[in-house]
Amino acid sequence: MNNYTIRKETKDDYRAVENLIRESFWNVYRPGCTEHYVIHVLRNDPAFVKELDFVMEQDGRLIGQNIFMKTIISADNGRDIDVLTMGPICIANDLKRKGYGKILLDHSLEKAVELGFGAVLFEGNIGFYGKSGFDYASKFGIRYHDLPEDADSSFFLCKELIRGYLDDVTGVYKTPQGYYVDDADVEKFDKSFPPKEKLKLPGQIF
Ligand SMILES: CC(C)(COP(=O)(O)OP(=O)(O)OC[C@H]1O[C@@H](n2cnc3c(N)ncnc32)[C@H](O)[C@@H]1OP(=O)(O)O)[C@@H](O)C(=O)NCCC(=O)NCCS
Repeated sequence: MNNYTIRKETKDDYRAVENLIRESFWNVYRPGCTEHYVIHVLRNDPAFVKELDFVMEQDGRLIGQNIFMKTIISADNGRDIDVLTMGPICIANDLKRKGYGKILLDHSLEKAVELGFGAVLFEGNIGFYGKSGFDYASKFGIRYHDLPEDADSSFFLCKELIRGYLDDVTGVYKTPQGYYVDDADVEKFDKSFPPKEKLKLPGQIF
């Protein structure tokens, strides 16, 4: 595993990145996917962090991408705590589970630290993110919006980028509005890509 580079995404990458995301997420969490449209929308969102918009390349080929958004924890004491959320992140299908995802993730997190951000929270699999220092957000006293208190929140992860940033914070994390896309808009956008079959598969969560 070598010859890879990680650099900022440019406008010329947009379509290829959306296609990479579509291929990588297709039928993973639901029949088809929405993430290629989500990034399309998020790039124009004021909460989008342009300095943390990365692509990974190997031999001139796009093999991965990751993005971040600014959001808040609505703290129980009434304050808003600035944090980041992340994703979509993906790696090309033929290169999954070879270590590229971890390299891209760790690189992105290092840059987020350099920019002075305090913490990152999002929905994800502890099997992958745990290796890069993420833990359950519940351990930090942070709750996921709209989730009943007794519900399983093990999908909701957190990593402090500044040690102790969440020490005195309890509260509710808000997913940025931009992630909520309309199914009809996704459908329409998806039609601009080559046809792909949507399949209902075991393990999908939606
Ligand atoms: C998730 C994703 C970005 C991970 O990138 P990757 O290059 O495949 O992962 P890595 O090889 O760097 O994984 C490092 C370790 O994390 C763990 N891991 C990776 N993917 C995992 C998964 N889906 N479930 C559980 N553990 C996982 C493994 O322990 C892996 O090491 P191992 O293969 O030696 O056991 C990539 O698989 C992908 O694009 N998936 C589809 C899109 C997606 O789900 N994105 C994330 C949404 S939250």
